[in-house]
Amino acid sequence: MTANATVNELASTIKKLAIKGKGILAADESVPTITKRFQANGIESTEDSRRAYREMLVTTPGCNQFIAGIILFEETLNQTTSKGLLFPQLLNQLDILPGIKVDKGLIPLINLENPAQKEEITQGLDGLPERLADYKSKGARFAKWRAVYAISQNTPSTLAIQTNAEILARYAAICQQQGIVPIVEPEVLIDSDHTIARCEEVSGPVFHAVFEALYRHHVKLEYIVLKPSMVISGKTCAQKSSVQETADATLRILQQTVPSAVPTINFLSGGQTSLQATAHLNAMNQHVLPWNLSFSYARALQEDAMKIWAGKAENIPAAQAAFYKRAKLNSLAAKGEYTEMMEREAAALVA
Ligand code: 13P
Repeated sequence: MTANATVNELASTIKKLAIKGKGILAADESVPTITKRFQANGIESTEDSRRAYREMLVTTPGCNQFIAGIILFEETLNQTTSKGLLFPQLLNQLDILPGIKVDKGLIPLINLENPAQKEEITQGLDGLPERLADYKSKGARFAKWRAVYAISQNTPSTLAIQTNAEILARYAAICQQQGIVPIVEPEVLIDSDHTIARCEEVSGPVFHAVFEALYRHHVKLEYIVLKPSMVISGKTCAQKSSVQETADATLRILQQTVPSAVPTINFLSGGQTSLQATAHLNAMNQHVLPWNLSFSYARALQEDAMKIWAGKAENIPAAQAAFYKRAKLNSLAAKGEYTEMMEREAAALVA
């Protein structure tokens, strides 16, 4: 494929992903992660139950008004739906772009100055070009790679920040070479007692290092999706940041570190409640910004639907109504048009 054809492919994919008011559904939980979430809801995790669950989400009538792309796990990419279509074929019929999680999960970062720190990096670069070519032949148009940063008194360390940035940039460069739009996901974890001020102090250097590495690796920022965590107080922090504080701090850090060449920023929800994730996105979209600001949530889109579905076919309409509601409200938040009142008008929102 010529360099021009590859750029055209990247341009056509990012154009669809960056449509105002549309977001991305992350349905790419690894088998251990989805199993944990299923178990918490009393659902057995088998290849078929995972297929049935994801088919239920994807076939929610009308969700393609709000969802531009869905990130799949490798297992799902190769699965056939009950109607005999492969998932990517079904998504194409619905005008939803198929994406694929390509990282191979976390491993310890060794030789830290303080070995008690226990930080992690993400693996999966070996053989990535060949895997991407295979995923692309099966219909994937964009990819996802997640790096994590835990906050403690001494972390993230400079070594973790630099190593993760380098790996994210290598991944992004390889994706673009293959005509696949990379989602670059630096996630500063919410699970600790840190204040919002500490999260802000950490997030600046993390995002800055990522963009410095992307620049050094000649990644075309016009054809990436940034999927960051929000700047927010930790889960067990006594002083919870308000919606306004979270929105202001997140925008401050993004404006300081993310070039305007990036077309779209799609947040992860990271353990926020569904309502918080929607409210934060909406508050940020009250401003005129250089990028599209939308969502790429897993839990904040799926939580209610999974609970209601509970592994039973008779619950599909109610579970799909719950998924439709969250997708629609987040779509409104991505345009700054959401109000909390809409949560109560749920019934009217369901198509
Ligand atoms: P959450 O929205 O549940 O954080 O998941 C997003 C994601 O894709 C994590 O990699």
